[in-house]
Amino acid sequence: MGDEIQEYFKHALMVAKEAGERVKTDFYRNKNISVKENFADLVTETDTAVEELIVAKLKQRFPDHKFIGEEAVSAGGHCELTDSPTWIIDPIDGTTNFVHSVPHTCISIGLAVNKEIVAGIVHGPILGETFTAVKGHGAFCNDVKLSVSTIQDLKQGLVIIEGGTSRVPGVLDTKIANLKKVVENCHGIRAYGSAALDMCFVAKGSHEAYVEHGIHVWDIAAGKLIVEEAGGIVCDPSGKLYSLDILYY
Ligand code: IPD
Repeated sequence: MGDEIQEYFKHALMVAKEAGERVKTDFYRNKNISVKENFADLVTETDTAVEELIVAKLKQRFPDHKFIGEEAVSAGGHCELTDSPTWIIDPIDGTTNFVHSVPHTCISIGLAVNKEIVAGIVHGPILGETFTAVKGHGAFCNDVKLSVSTIQDLKQGLVIIEGGTSRVPGVLDTKIANLKKVVENCHGIRAYGSAALDMCFVAKGSHEAYVEHGIHVWDIAAGKLIVEEAGGIVCDPSGKLYSLDILYY
């Protein structure tokens, strides 16, 4: 399986870079924007086109593989994780940044086999940073090996915490309570607007943690492996290690 995974990974990296060219071109143009769950949950024509491109290119090479893509699922598509090789795709993570021409936007592609992420790619075409990991082979940014921070005391740490797209009052209350708890206990907080990049910044060691209440599997699938391969962990609020069996939380 090891060689096969390397082959899947190399092909997906090529596809991510091709998709990145489309994102880069559209980044400097006027965007065609629609809303999903609410006025703050955005999708552009580029999100949909890039997801279609990625799925088509991967399907052509690996016809038996399965797909979970943010835009297909948001449009009512099936979201099921089985033991089969499954590509979990966020065509533009950081859509709001993309809309507002903020460079923190990326393509996130994770590959799950037996419900475990075995390869992850987070490609930031505007930032010029490509984060990658293959299970058991470390995590890299533009081929430089990554390690998480060695700081153990959160009070010495810099933490990323996102507001997200939900505007449901109860959800916002939890987010504000989390923000208070985090800010009380660390050097400072940051929010870059892309969960996948946030996780890569933790993998890089420039931030000690990333916290978000209410996230989707496509936002974090690739980042999960990148963090783990850099020596970090991904857990739920109780401290239990995050498993892909839970697709949403
Ligand atoms: C969003 C981003 C954002 C996070 C939201 C996600 P999208 O993903 O990752 O940082 O706070 O929860 O939904 O919509 O840009 O793919």
